[in-house]
Amino acid sequence: MLERLANKHIVLGVTGSIAAYKAADIVRRLREAGSEVRVVMTRAATEFVTPMTFQALSGNPVHLHLLDAQAEAAMGHISLARWADAILVAPASADFLARLRQGRADDLLSAVCLAGDVPLAVAPAMNQRMWSDRATQENIQGLKSRGILLFGPEDGSQACGETGVGRLQEPLQILTQLAEVFSSGALDGLRVLLTAGPTREPIDPVRYISNHSSGKMGYAIAQAAAEAGARVTLISGPVALSPPPSVLTLPVVTALQMFECVVQQLKHTDIFIATAAVADYRVTEVAPQKIKKTSAPLTLQLSLNPDILGQVKQQAPHIYCVGFAAETEQVVPRARIKLQQKGVEMIAANQVGGENNLGGFSSDNNSLTLCTPESEVTLALAPKAKIARELITHVARSYPLWRQTRKASAQILRFGKPPL
Ligand code: PMT
Repeated sequence: MLERLANKHIVLGVTGSIAAYKAADIVRRLREAGSEVRVVMTRAATEFVTPMTFQALSGNPVHLHLLDAQAEAAMGHISLARWADAILVAPASADFLARLRQGRADDLLSAVCLAGDVPLAVAPAMNQRMWSDRATQENIQGLKSRGILLFGPEDGSQACGETGVGRLQEPLQILTQLAEVFSSGALDGLRVLLTAGPTREPIDPVRYISNHSSGKMGYAIAQAAAEAGARVTLISGPVALSPPPSVLTLPVVTALQMFECVVQQLKHTDIFIATAAVADYRVTEVAPQKIKKTSAPLTLQLSLNPDILGQVKQQAPHIYCVGFAAETEQVVPRARIKLQQKGVEMIAANQVGGENNLGGFSSDNNSLTLCTPESEVTLALAPKAKIARELITHVARSYPLWRQTRKASAQILRFGKPPL
């Protein structure tokens, strides 16, 4: 379950409570699960645990002040909120909950919570009387009605010597609920096949033709599909990434190998997403030994590689196919041409090669325009993990409708149009 937290960006807010020490264990477990963590502490929290503890455990500087020009220049409250895939405040004190309810933004943590457009969860910890007080209960109802998630608190003995509801939940329990945030179930029961990364086309035993694909986009989509409940198989060209958890990853090197591997998986596929930057050509005759340098120009003859995406659509029209179109200019018009030529259901138009590296190859961020025969949706520049989740949401929405339409037209072909 905690594998859903892999590669997630978590902002952990720590507020003033005796339970602040448990936040150290939360950071440790998040790191173990593969999350990247940035800790934001309120002033009161620093009275209980030192920022140094969280810095050492998270491997990142701890964020403390709202009006600190230096810290804002490095990663300000808006950037922190945008960086996050989820914000967790644990422990959340009664005072912090009251401030969150009011929409205050006069310290860093409340400002990050207000600026965030991602799931926000609070794990309260306070004295049992403070928890049951009407003011706190009204605040909790108000927060819940805004969609803020509530983890706990627990009933039991408290640090102040009293017994009742108000204890911070155990770190594992908090993280199990946080992991659920990343499970949409939108692709429950479906089998998704993906290609990702570059292919390498050998010239001789030491040289090859390839491209700048890092695999980040495809791996993020594989993870997003798994989190949405799909059984995912990822066919990956050579990249320097760890296989996403709960995804069957099959490594290949050349376009021909990728093609063969894809064909073998088609029987078990409902949705095919081709993110890979497949080399269009391969060297016709790979030299068995290293080609020696001479003063004469060297000519390599290239042969066309199979169009994997096009072949999948031809061989298995019942598979919902999503392609990508990496283009340096006229991105959407060219993507639309590919949509038609390959006869697929969706093409994600991807601007690449810009001067500022705002997306595309190797970058951690991307922006896409999802083109279908009927629609066009732009996903604004964001971390690839977020873009991947948005893409999966769109695929999950249009897949059932597409399948229904396909079934209906197959029936018309078999039995003719039903009488009106
Ligand atoms: O890996 P990253 O560094 O994260 O970068 C992501 C990316 C830029 C590689 C990715 O987002 C992307 O745009 N991938 C498609 C790149 C590409 O080569 O596009 P294309 O226009 O050449 O191909 C169109 C589509 O046909 C693609 O879905 C491609 O996978 C597929 N194709 C292409 C050639 C071929 N022989 N077989 C194919 O299946």
